[in-house]
Amino acid sequence: MAAGHDLSPSEAPAALSFPPSFTWGTATAAYQIEGAATLDGRTPSIWDTYSRTPGKVRNGDTGDTATDHYHRWREDVAIMADLGVGAYRFSIAWPRVQPTGRGPSVQKGLDFYRKLADELLEKNIQPVATLYHWDLPQELEDAGGWPERVTAERFAEYAGLAAEALGDRVRTWITLNEPWCSAFLGYSSGVHAPGRTDPVAALRAAHHLNLGHGKAVQALRANLPSDAQVSVTLNIHHVRPFTDDAQDVDAARRIDALANRVFTGPMLQGAYPEDLLRDTASLTDWSFVQDGDLKEIRQPLDFLGVNYYTPTLVSGGASGTSHGSDGHGKSEHSPWPAADDVTFHLPPGSTTAMGWAVDPTGLYDLLVRVKGDFPQMPLMITENGAAFDDYVDPEGNVNDPDRIDYLQGHLAAVHRAIEAGVDVRGYFLWSLLDNFEWGYGYSKRFGAVYVDYPTGKRIPKASARWYSAVARTGLLPA
Ligand code: NOJ
Repeated sequence: MAAGHDLSPSEAPAALSFPPSFTWGTATAAYQIEGAATLDGRTPSIWDTYSRTPGKVRNGDTGDTATDHYHRWREDVAIMADLGVGAYRFSIAWPRVQPTGRGPSVQKGLDFYRKLADELLEKNIQPVATLYHWDLPQELEDAGGWPERVTAERFAEYAGLAAEALGDRVRTWITLNEPWCSAFLGYSSGVHAPGRTDPVAALRAAHHLNLGHGKAVQALRANLPSDAQVSVTLNIHHVRPFTDDAQDVDAARRIDALANRVFTGPMLQGAYPEDLLRDTASLTDWSFVQDGDLKEIRQPLDFLGVNYYTPTLVSGGASGTSHGSDGHGKSEHSPWPAADDVTFHLPPGSTTAMGWAVDPTGLYDLLVRVKGDFPQMPLMITENGAAFDDYVDPEGNVNDPDRIDYLQGHLAAVHRAIEAGVDVRGYFLWSLLDNFEWGYGYSKRFGAVYVDYPTGKRIPKASARWYSAVARTGLLPA
């Protein structure tokens, strides 16, 4: 086709072509899909405790059975093979492989992931393992949890043990998934496990998650072959000011520090941002950061994992707060320490079943911004997707055109970012299956594959077939 500026509609490209090496994957997390909460030596994690606490999770849902992936994993891998995806990002349940969070591993727990990885490799699907997708062994929370330094030590030990057992099969590793949620939803707003509401504990948790990451990267490298890929997944918020007014711009800067730079600063640049320390000085002097910590946290990474769902729109200077409207669940307590005057607004456009605005420009802008900040860092979209109110029609099909639109728009944004020079290496659709959506329980369906919870039956939605065609060809319908 001729390149040029005056293409007639019939000559316009029908599809956007992704690089042949681009990785097409799907993603899940252990507590959200596995079930089998008490089998084979698994002990409770903070999410078992939290979900069993009345009033915490919608409808009193728990991960006790979830999608029963612990028993149906072969079927789930077969579904992925049918779809033709090239990679699968799953998480390892810490309380399954090292139940008390210390000491020796449990063979049966490790065997589950060994068999899963073998089956994936057999089907030509690259396994990508996340070490921590929020299921801290309850015993470690009882000993103080992430606000305490010892948890970072424990995490590194677990990382080493997992790598030693699985490193011959799993070559791509992610330390933490969305540590922002672990620290600030877990310890400040309390809408995630363990449900504490202490902003200083949340800042301490953020530091010890950073430290745990740095120590875990070292433990992984020590136990993995030299060609292994090691990374972390951050839910970098794309924060936009509501207007150009100075106080809105400043609110965006502060939320950017608390959401993003609190992690990227130490992990990628070796320091906490000065403005973050200043903004939170009324709460803490950060003396929990010890000599040598920053050096340990900043470890070379092979890529950065980015999760994106929706942009964040903020204004400053308001006398009240609207903590619930930032899309992370309602609480009387803010997840944003020392930012009580920031108001969160719903960005324009249509919304998903989560009430999150659909805005692919946020993903494009985010990727360009990350490239600007860390020019040498390859990126991987480790999650992107949407919940809609899917149902099985009388013919037994699940038609989800809104999800197809969402995926199409966001993949087009990824394509545009690649064309603009951003080194995006892959994309993982969240999620392979409908699953336990944390505080929302089973009420929100993010899957490309529908799960009928009473029977466990899987029904690939129309979006699964659509995504399959994109993954197989590398061509996105324009
Ligand atoms: C990010 C989390 O990693 C995942 O567990 C969650 O289900 C999705 N976002 C959707 O909220």
